[in-house]
Amino acid sequence: MALVYKFLLLCFLLIFVPPAIAQTSFRPRALVLPVQKNAAVFQYVTQIKQRTPLVPVKLAVHLGGNLLWVDCEKGYVSSTNKTARCGSAQCNLIGPVACGGGICGEFPSNPISNTGTFGSIRIDVVSVQSTNGRHPGRGVTVPNFIFLCGSEFVLQGLAPGVTGIAALGRTKTALPLQLAAAFSLNRKFAICLSPSARSNGVIIIGDGPYVLLPNVDVSKSLTYTPLLINQVNTEGGFLGTPSNEYFIGVKSIKVGGKAIPLNTTLLSIDSEGIGGTKFSTAVPYTVLETSIYKALLQAFVNAMPTKVTRVAPVAPFGACFNSRDIGSSRLGPSVPQIDLVLQNSKVFWSIIGANSIVRVSNDVSCLGFVDGGVTPKTSIVIGGHQLDNNLVQFDIATSRLGFSNSLLLQRTMCSNFNFTST
Ligand SMILES: *[C@@H]1O[C@H](CO)[C@@H](O)[C@H](O)[C@H]1NC(C)=O
Ligand SMILES: *[C@@H]1O[C@H](CO)[C@@H](O)[C@H](O)[C@H]1NC(C)=O
Ligand SMILES: *[C@@H]1O[C@H](CO)[C@@H](O)[C@H](O)[C@H]1NC(C)=O
Repeated sequence: MALVYKFLLLCFLLIFVPPAIAQTSFRPRALVLPVQKNAAVFQYVTQIKQRTPLVPVKLAVHLGGNLLWVDCEKGYVSSTNKTARCGSAQCNLIGPVACGGGICGEFPSNPISNTGTFGSIRIDVVSVQSTNGRHPGRGVTVPNFIFLCGSEFVLQGLAPGVTGIAALGRTKTALPLQLAAAFSLNRKFAICLSPSARSNGVIIIGDGPYVLLPNVDVSKSLTYTPLLINQVNTEGGFLGTPSNEYFIGVKSIKVGGKAIPLNTTLLSIDSEGIGGTKFSTAVPYTVLETSIYKALLQAFVNAMPTKVTRVAPVAPFGACFNSRDIGSSRLGPSVPQIDLVLQNSKVFWSIIGANSIVRVSNDVSCLGFVDGGVTPKTSIVIGGHQLDNNLVQFDIATSRLGFSNSLLLQRTMCSNFNFTST
């Protein structure tokens, strides 16, 4: 009897497969995007395919933002373009929006030039490659991807060929969660940025593994810290909406193993959203509030081997050294390690020479951090140079950040993802 019931239940389940799964026989486990540094303008550029017929679209990577946007004023042609009406499901998914003539809209913001203007919400086809975490697999398509149509001038300051921004913020409509929802992937993504302008780093949406040549699965060796939510969107956006960016709780900073004196009030996020630590691909070097910057610079200079001579600083840096006095190893210049200490003294993000030093010329090497002034919105903004060759996983579902520390320590790097499809 029970067996008959089980059989009937099985038949029932087979008939009533949810339509989203039934539509496609191939379900990817993760998606992969290439990302390349434009060294001239210090931006990270990724590429997706969009529209009908599909065309490649280059986008600047932004670890924040609510919607992917592209320039629709020039060269946007697609037979599948649709406009989102106010009150439509797509428009409602975005959260607070503006409405003009029944058309759902938003303000695309360019975090690099801080420009923005009203744009309409559109829906069109997007295509990306799937992955098993080792290679790219077949291309997969989302027919109804929600994005924002920006006008040409919002492109100001973006790398040549770039026609929009890939918003990787925490929200449902930003690129990671919109793609994750379309394929029922886990709500997480990882970025691994390469400092090289000639080879691709990688963004993987969904679960790991994250395998880099020679066969290093970086997902196995991540360290975790909670992701914090800043209740105030200091980037702009609608009043009362939380930030779309990724904050972590740095508790102290060590240089050469010794804690530097800091005003710890600056390290937490206050009720107005001021303070704390976040990630940004829009800044080339980590930006520190003045007192933190000065303390780090002083400690770093003091901890340098005495044979290293200081030379006149080269803007935007404040402490520079004679390159020839600094030894070098597999891990980059041999300098004191900087640790960002997180939830306890055993959990820290370490910054080795390859990520702390910027070689300005054959003669001059500088501490690659910059002064953010006395009243920045966020006290510590971890920027591109410090992210290079570190794999960072943003697990939105569990509000947790996973980080690898420098991959050079594991004898691999972000450009070692094998982009050759099987
Ligand atoms: C949008 O799609 C419609 C319907 O296919 C088409 O007539 C129109 O030219 C398209 N617009 C653009 C900008 O491609
Ligand atoms: C620490 O920083 C807070 C926030 O900027 C400021 O109000 C306070 O005066 C600072 N404390 C000291 C001792 O400088
Ligand atoms: C990358 O993947 C391709 C396809 O599987 C394989 O033939 C090639 O050997 C791999 N490259 C390296 C360097 O292992």
